[in-house]
Amino acid sequence: MKTPLLLLLFTLMIPSPSSSIQLQSLSKGSSLFSDKPDDVLVSPNGVFFAGFYGVGDNAYCFAIWFAKSFGSTVVWIANRDHPVNGIGSSLSLVSDGNLLLTDAGQINIWVTSTISTSSVHLCLMDTGNLVLETSKNFILWQSFDSPTDTLLPQQPLTRNTKLVSSRTRGNYSSGSYSLYFDNDNVLRILFDGPMTSSIYWPDPSISIWSAGRTTYNNTRIGVLDLSGHFLSSDSFKFLAADLGEGPKRRLTIDFDGNLRLYSLNEKLDWDVSWQAINAPCKTHGICGPNSICVYEPDRRCSCLPGFVVKDRTDWSYGCESRSNFSFEGAKSKFVNLHNVDFYGYDLNFFHNVTWENCKKNCLQQFTCKAFMYRMDNGMYDCYLKSFLLNGYRAPDFQGSMYLRVPEDSSESLNDTSHVLSCSSEAHEELPRMYKEKHDTRYLRYLFWFVSIIGGVEMICIILGWWFLFKTQGNSSIFDQGYLSAASGFRKFTYAELKKETRCFTEEIGRGGGGVVYKGVLSDNRVAAIKRLHEANQEEGEFFAEVSIIGRINHMNLIEMWGFCAEGKHRLLVYEYMEHGSLAKNLLSNVFDWEKRLKTALGTAKGLAYLHEECLEWVLHCDVKPQNILLDENFNPKVADFGLSKLLDRGNLNNTDFSAIRGTRGYMAPEWVYSLPITSKVDVYSYGIVVLELVTGKSPTGSYVVESLGETEPRHLVTWVREKIEANSTSMGSGFEEIMDSRIVEQCDLVKAEILMRIALQCVEEERDARPTMKQVVEMLQRLGRDH
Ligand SMILES: *[C@@H]1O[C@H](CO)[C@@H](O)[C@H](O)[C@H]1NC(C)=O
Ligand SMILES: *[C@@H]1O[C@H](CO)[C@@H](O)[C@H](O)[C@H]1NC(C)=O
Ligand SMILES: *[C@@H]1O[C@H](CO)[C@@H](O)[C@H](O)[C@H]1NC(C)=O
Ligand SMILES: *[C@@H]1O[C@H](CO)[C@@H](O)[C@H](O)[C@H]1NC(C)=O
Ligand SMILES: *[C@@H]1O[C@H](CO)[C@@H](O)[C@H](O)[C@H]1NC(C)=O
Repeated sequence: MKTPLLLLLFTLMIPSPSSSIQLQSLSKGSSLFSDKPDDVLVSPNGVFFAGFYGVGDNAYCFAIWFAKSFGSTVVWIANRDHPVNGIGSSLSLVSDGNLLLTDAGQINIWVTSTISTSSVHLCLMDTGNLVLETSKNFILWQSFDSPTDTLLPQQPLTRNTKLVSSRTRGNYSSGSYSLYFDNDNVLRILFDGPMTSSIYWPDPSISIWSAGRTTYNNTRIGVLDLSGHFLSSDSFKFLAADLGEGPKRRLTIDFDGNLRLYSLNEKLDWDVSWQAINAPCKTHGICGPNSICVYEPDRRCSCLPGFVVKDRTDWSYGCESRSNFSFEGAKSKFVNLHNVDFYGYDLNFFHNVTWENCKKNCLQQFTCKAFMYRMDNGMYDCYLKSFLLNGYRAPDFQGSMYLRVPEDSSESLNDTSHVLSCSSEAHEELPRMYKEKHDTRYLRYLFWFVSIIGGVEMICIILGWWFLFKTQGNSSIFDQGYLSAASGFRKFTYAELKKETRCFTEEIGRGGGGVVYKGVLSDNRVAAIKRLHEANQEEGEFFAEVSIIGRINHMNLIEMWGFCAEGKHRLLVYEYMEHGSLAKNLLSNVFDWEKRLKTALGTAKGLAYLHEECLEWVLHCDVKPQNILLDENFNPKVADFGLSKLLDRGNLNNTDFSAIRGTRGYMAPEWVYSLPITSKVDVYSYGIVVLELVTGKSPTGSYVVESLGETEPRHLVTWVREKIEANSTSMGSGFEEIMDSRIVEQCDLVKAEILMRIALQCVEEERDARPTMKQVVEMLQRLGRDH
């Protein structure tokens, strides 16, 4: 009886039809009840609610969430691991200033342990911070100091706080992943599972320094500001794809172990505007021991040959052997798993050994469960594994795992169950020869020479070096050669590139914001070097974005080897593609049907990878035959992705996708009607490219549908549609007329028509009617299989 009266006295009421009460604050002696979950605290701007939130059958948590008109997502929970009963539980601010969450049985589930004799009130700020403060604005307690899995803008992550993921998508109790500042001051993500724990972000295979972090600043603080810029004291930073004030954002460590920045769009969906890990299989603990994570096109786990899953509902328990055997004294053989790697648990490592020797080494130890054999720096490395954890298959991983099985087992020696069924996928091992650096020996001699000459000269040289680094200011971090030993991505000097392209003489292409030249790097790799038109972008920012693009790795995306940012020069160094662009190949007679089909599938895979696995912001926005390059085996690789963004940063006005981009003929209608730009713009452009592949006709031309007795020329899309309708008697018949005459003979007309119909779906006017790139890949793979 007493409490509702106090509620009336102390709070401002907003009348609402469902008789729910929206409070501005809670004062001493008042409570919220789980029986009335509609009674909530609301922030003055109406964005956040705090109250009892249903997390299960009759189970409630005291939580803060975005109001329904802002996506109703939970951002904080007081009692995530101990939900309270829906009947008879309450949150009370008691007279001594303590805030108590009491379960039905009068048990205190959660307390703030605050004490205050003066007047105290609990209120929800516009930032989403729930604050218990005195009348003199002294903060006794605040929810920002005890985050759950989400960090809101302006909420600092400190040495005392960490984010812990939810268990699963719908279960808010504590999961296995956490984001925190480690003892060495570095912000990391830890997987702490039922059986193992490991850190996987920043990438443990590269040094902290290569990952762009520092261990020297022990402030340990990281904050996301209102414009979507995150900065932490270990030098880690990122920018939201939709940089600028406006969208509601949250930084969440998701139940799948990835850290993502979300921005709320107009449809009240959360778009990912940044994420820590771009390859989903690189997070740890997803698949558990003896299983591998595959990603094509969705992430899933699968057991190694001879193993069965332990718990289908929770893959983190992994797989167990079908039979109990020990390799001690028993004969064994090896099953080859292509492109598979397991991270960690190396029993031993051998450099430059033959496959036979690697195998022999494994056989000698009964704890050796498998060995990994791969080419690295032109030599074969051998890793013996004692425990098979964190396994994943990635087409770009150029090595094989050899799993040890008993000699008499029936497993096939060449395991194909984890290899894609589509034959065009077979990945060729491209040995990457990095030449030994000759200069090191030279430097060593120089060093001795100098020390013999005497200390004075040495001091001069040291001073000289020091001065050199000093004058280069903060960019010195990435001036020291290879950024990441793992990927080979590096910064080049302008002088170096000038020399390697012989003063920019051999031009091989134009467009996408710059001119492309051919060059030969000092390690003899042939490169395509793109010189961007003048950019007034700050070096550090350019670096941040380029290094993200540099980390994107897929066999159907062009690989970036490095960049140069010096003064006003901005250059990008890419792998060189033997057969040049699709545009060029479309003119040639040797570009046959098989190659075209391969191009359609590969391009779709590359784009799907950009859209699904990376981020929305890596929308290509300029898919066209000039931007699809073919390597020596006519494998297509998409070029210039991420560039639209990079070029736009020059005139930073945060309306990232407002200006019309792309190329006439390939641009989706959204650009013209100023509709929101989504990944569907790339789907549209892709559809046009496929139409061009099949018809051999340019989308900028106009064509006449003779059979209708009309003379009015049509746009390519309309022309194809009308032609197909006119001939729609049965599949394949009359279809030759539409096709490029150079390929009619070679191709399977039924397949060609299916491909054409997929393309037509991609170029639907209505963007929601278009499939996603992932769906396109699935359709094309089905097409490739049906023989
Ligand atoms: C959430 O997961 C925990 C741990 O697995 C389990 O104890 C709890 O019952 C789950 N909660 C719900 C609502 O499913
Ligand atoms: C450490 O990081 C904090 C927060 O980013 C920054 O304000 C401070 O200047 C840094 N200190 C040093 C010595 O770099
Ligand atoms: C393997 O051995 C363990 C104990 O050593 C036993 O619990 C398990 O059931 C055995 N599995 C099979 C498939 O025989
Ligand atoms: C690699 O091994 C081969 C054969 O054992 C040897 O001839 C060669 O010198 C080795 N290379 C290096 C760099 O150690
Ligand atoms: C194993 O399978 C792969 C892919 O199917 C194939 O490229 C390779 O030649 C096969 N190796 C052997 C030894 O059969």
